[in-house]
Amino acid sequence: PGLNSLMKLNDGRYFGTAASTVHFNDSKWLSVLQDSDMFGSMTPENSQKWEATEPERGVFDFAAADLNVQKAQEAGQMVRCHTLIWYNALPDWITSQTWTNETLIAVMENHIKEVVTHFKGQCYSWDVVNEAVNDDGSYRETIWYNTIGPEYIAMAYNMVAKYDPDAKLYYNDYGIEFINNKTLGAIALVKDLKEKGVKVDGVGIQGHYPVVLAPSYEDQVEVLQRFADLGVEVATTELDVFVEIPEKVEQVEMQTAIYADSVRACVDVPACVGVTVWGFYDPYSWVPGTVPGYGNADLFWANWTAKPAYDAIVNAL
Ligand code: XIL
Repeated sequence: PGLNSLMKLNDGRYFGTAASTVHFNDSKWLSVLQDSDMFGSMTPENSQKWEATEPERGVFDFAAADLNVQKAQEAGQMVRCHTLIWYNALPDWITSQTWTNETLIAVMENHIKEVVTHFKGQCYSWDVVNEAVNDDGSYRETIWYNTIGPEYIAMAYNMVAKYDPDAKLYYNDYGIEFINNKTLGAIALVKDLKEKGVKVDGVGIQGHYPVVLAPSYEDQVEVLQRFADLGVEVATTELDVFVEIPEKVEQVEMQTAIYADSVRACVDVPACVGVTVWGFYDPYSWVPGTVPGYGNADLFWANWTAKPAYDAIVNAL
């Protein structure tokens, strides 16, 4: 059985992947993506980001995102919709001008209204706010924070809840996979939203790990549980584990253990609903383009052989 079928046996959890529409013409890759035995959930890698959905003010383009969602639906997969309010992947029309508090809130509400309404009923969850906390636990000084103030976060959740009351609303971030100042900041953020009565249903731990800096199984269980204690569900949402290129055997062994530990940590925390990998095929991974000198982060090598990490996940389940 494939990874999703095995996860399903663990109290109905899912195993999912990110997918970019850029690769939809690769039939081998597409057949693996749409294998629901392998993947029960899909996250659009880029097509729902602001620069893709509203490239010009008030001009919405859902062509790529609709294709993403359609491929998942054909395969009977749920969709983790990603993402609405982020400092990255913003179109020039937003970043190249100064906004008042009032005009930027209006821009935010219109975007959320159009995008969330368009996908209403199709998203298992929305990553409403992505990466809002600094390493020291303070709020990241994004255009949203600098213009609107920290209230932008609660506003965003309230807006999404208004336009799609059924989607689960997530906070998603990286660097929160073990207890540190950033994790404590994210915990405080979610706790604050909860105390204010804002609808927040889940926390996503991204999980982009270079092998030498990956969290242990215990770290991950602890952090997933700490978030769960706030009364939300949790998930690992963007798992990939990268090695130095050229690849060394010891690092592949580390990668193997880290993948298995990460999946096992989710299964051992009752509130953890699933694990999503950020792609599954090395040649299409975002890692080499973003982290020079690193790569081979995914579960399948370029020749489509499954890595030891794949078998280790199977054994861990
Ligand atoms: C990445 C994509 O994988 C790349 O293709 C793109 O160029 C940049 O964004 N955290 C996130 C994801 O929440 O949206 C990012 O995805 C990876 C880091």
